[in-house]
Amino acid sequence: MTVVGQRLTRDAFIGGEWHAARSGRRFASIDPSTGEHFADIAEGGADDIDAAVRSAAAAFPSWSARKPLDRGRILLKLAERLNAEAEMLAALETRDSGKPTDIAVSDVRGTARYFEYYGGLADKLQGETIPLGEDYVSYTRYEPFGVVGVIIPWNGPIQQAARSVAPALMTGNAVVAKPAEQTPLTCLELARLAFECGVPAGAFNVVPGFGEVAGAALVEHPLVSKVAFTGSVDTGRLVASAAAKRLIPVTLELGGKSPHIIFADADIEAAAKGAWLGINVNAGQICSAGSRLFVHSSVYDEVVARLQELNSTLTIGPGEANCFMGPLVSAEHKQKVDSYLGLAEQEGAAVHVGGQPMADLPPGSYTRPVLLTGVSNDMRVAREEIFGPVLVIIPFETDDEVVALANDSEYGLAAGLWTTDLSRAHRVAAQLQAGQVFVNEYWAGGVETPFGGVKNSGYGREKGVAGALDYTYLKTVTLRLHPHPRPAPPTQNDDSELD
Ligand code: NAI
Ligand code: MG
Repeated sequence: MTVVGQRLTRDAFIGGEWHAARSGRRFASIDPSTGEHFADIAEGGADDIDAAVRSAAAAFPSWSARKPLDRGRILLKLAERLNAEAEMLAALETRDSGKPTDIAVSDVRGTARYFEYYGGLADKLQGETIPLGEDYVSYTRYEPFGVVGVIIPWNGPIQQAARSVAPALMTGNAVVAKPAEQTPLTCLELARLAFECGVPAGAFNVVPGFGEVAGAALVEHPLVSKVAFTGSVDTGRLVASAAAKRLIPVTLELGGKSPHIIFADADIEAAAKGAWLGINVNAGQICSAGSRLFVHSSVYDEVVARLQELNSTLTIGPGEANCFMGPLVSAEHKQKVDSYLGLAEQEGAAVHVGGQPMADLPPGSYTRPVLLTGVSNDMRVAREEIFGPVLVIIPFETDDEVVALANDSEYGLAAGLWTTDLSRAHRVAAQLQAGQVFVNEYWAGGVETPFGGVKNSGYGREKGVAGALDYTYLKTVTLRLHPHPRPAPPTQNDDSELD
């Protein structure tokens, strides 16, 4: 995909065809590894969103009427195709986002896995029958909403698209996706491949563009009946408010400041490595990154020393060089992450900068891994999502204290803990306010395990069966087997209810 001296151009994918923006405008895609402006992307506006939503609405009746088995087979075919094209897609993702190649490949495999998982689930989502006695039959059906709007961030562009698009399509919805302006390319490729594998024209459209314009128009469009949003808390609030005005459901996945706890009885070597990975994979640009590390005071020095050692060997380079860490996604984001280091000093924390020298790197948005000690949980660096390789480390004494500290956060996405005591593992897991708790392996789980937040981390669930149900509404059908004249109205003693 490296085209020297010639930029790539990409249009919106609407109704199975490529369309330039109606305004004719394009925006630049920048390779954060080099700062190079390497692609020009159609800048979708409200009229492009309107065309995509209408195309989705037109495709919906026949797509939703297809046998679940048929929809499932198409998604399974797409899963195979994604695996076959993994190298091409990963190269594009690396170019657009700065991700090291290995992470990009793993993201593409994860994308394929979403289509495999939900493709396989298509003919297995079954309702219930409800016992009402011999005069009635009552059962439930999972119904698609219609047109689903999917708004995607830049930290896992293709796999976060798949996380929403696969279950939405599987359950019979049609989709309009709006990728992040920093990383639109792989989502467009995903739509093309889906179309080539048999997803009908219009069932999956992608309109790149800016959030305040294209994203907002998608949420406000009268034919959109459900929105899945992943991104920042502030934008999540805007999306939820716009959806509330239209009374449509939203899934919000809004990031966190996830606590990661190392108890004294843990396997310290494994725990330190786990904590290190928990903040440094993808340069910390992961919503569920374990960004607040709580370490029992008896092992605190040992863990900090081990983290410093690991940081000192951490390699940094262009995405294509496949070092441990690539650049941050954009110069703007680097500025935000770096600003927290100044803030940490102002707040009185000790800043330990790690990573191998970066002197010979091209002019990209690189940053270095950082440990912050001398931090208390009320400092801004311990409360705000930095979304970079910056780990705050806080010592604790007792289980009750660390649970209180971990829960003292506006967020509630993920939590991790390391212990060899089974009772403690289950007790603390139950006490933590988080959508998922990982024990003795950060990010334990997969496409099968439901994922989402509480508090400011959002609501609704992605992944697993729960993630599929979020793209449906439950319909109850009840019928009287022996039609008879309408019964008399219930008396006070009658136990039937009229809702
Ligand atoms: P953002 O929330 O503004 O962007 C995410 C998506 O929302 C993008 O596709 C964007 O175009 C769209 N968007 C923006 N404004 C919109 C609007 N008014 N209506 C509809 N859609 C809109 O996030 P941003 O500014 O890129 O990153 C800021 C911070 O958000 C990061 O530093 C990080 O802390 C957090 N974040 C969390 C993510 C997560 O996985 N939960 C992903 C990306 C960012
Ligand atoms: Mg880019």
